[in-house]
Amino acid sequence: MEKKITVLPGDGIGPEVVASAVRVLQAIGKRYNHEFQLQYAEIGGAAIDQYNNPLPDKTIAMCEESDAILLGAVGGPKWDNNPPELRPEKGLLNIRKTFDLFSNLRPVKAFPSLLDASPLKREVAENVDLMIVRELTGGIYFGEKHRDLDQASDLNIYSRAEIERIVDNAFELARLRRGKLCSVDKANVLETSRLWREVVEEKKEQYPDVEVEHNLVDSVAMKLITNPGHYDVVVTDNMFGDILSDEASVITGSLGVLPSASIRSDNFGLYEPVHGSAPDIAGQGKANPAATILSVAMMLRYSFALLNEAAEIERAVSAVFEDGYFTADLAKGDSRALTTDEWTDRVIAEI
Ligand code: NAI
Ligand code: MG
Repeated sequence: MEKKITVLPGDGIGPEVVASAVRVLQAIGKRYNHEFQLQYAEIGGAAIDQYNNPLPDKTIAMCEESDAILLGAVGGPKWDNNPPELRPEKGLLNIRKTFDLFSNLRPVKAFPSLLDASPLKREVAENVDLMIVRELTGGIYFGEKHRDLDQASDLNIYSRAEIERIVDNAFELARLRRGKLCSVDKANVLETSRLWREVVEEKKEQYPDVEVEHNLVDSVAMKLITNPGHYDVVVTDNMFGDILSDEASVITGSLGVLPSASIRSDNFGLYEPVHGSAPDIAGQGKANPAATILSVAMMLRYSFALLNEAAEIERAVSAVFEDGYFTADLAKGDSRALTTDEWTDRVIAEI
């Protein structure tokens, strides 16, 4: 298989973790006989410095003619006082909007050797393997806003078509996983939620192999802490998904290992770690590249349908942790922390 990938390293530890992930990608290409062509472009602070624009047209054009995008992270103190249009995060918002990446996937999986970092009891966190699917381009964050002196409103609006495409995506993901889908809403009070529930009920006829439950968001907020092992795929709207995905991200306790994807219906997608640019450790070889490496696995699975290759990366990452090798963020007591590159070498050796 031949694929073209646009790589956007970004700022802080972005370039370091992306370099690791690219090395792993090339190792997989060599082992399974695929050719991954890489082209590099700027986003965020790096793009502001060079082009005075957090998402230059040149970057958009390169992404447009590629099959997927790999992103590091953006931001840092250098740009914190810039005006809103010249802030690094603006580049992220713009790229999601430009490419209509409406489905945000945040998997959370427990690695047994990392569970000491979880705020939950080991027996609660150890069986967690879930994925939050968040609608990313509609809902209350994009609805009309009003402000009078002492009154404000935000309009929450969803069309049937917008709900259908995210729900279809979630059903298909559930099929690739354990076949369980939890749709989250607030149908006891919100009209958008009633339409959401209606669409899920209609869609489930097309996916008889997927087991569906509806749940209210407040109840899911509790159950994610008391019984997170219950969930497989969780699908919800933009605002509920924003909150629940952050809640879910702390279950296993390690920011450095959480990947994410933002995709659309033709499987084009943007893949990036959940963490930020970590300016406090940038340039020191301390960054944990696991989140970005696992984001590459998601790219192989969801954009290229290379399921075995994706599973091989996940297996290798898991094996390196189980063998007791960690970067500084996760190394405990007696174990020496590996540098970003050393840890990446271990993963490549596994592959
Ligand atoms: P952060 O995720 O960059 O860092 C939080 C803490 O976790 C820091 O102590 C950092 O050293 C550590 N950390 C994060 N990723 C790590 C990794 N891979 N390995 C080891 N340690 C890691 O969040 P923070 O500090 O709130 O934000 C820093 C900058 O990143 C800000 O400019 C912020 O705007 C930006 N940011 C960018 C995001 C993105 O590009 N998607 C997301 C979140 C923040
Ligand atoms: Mg958030």
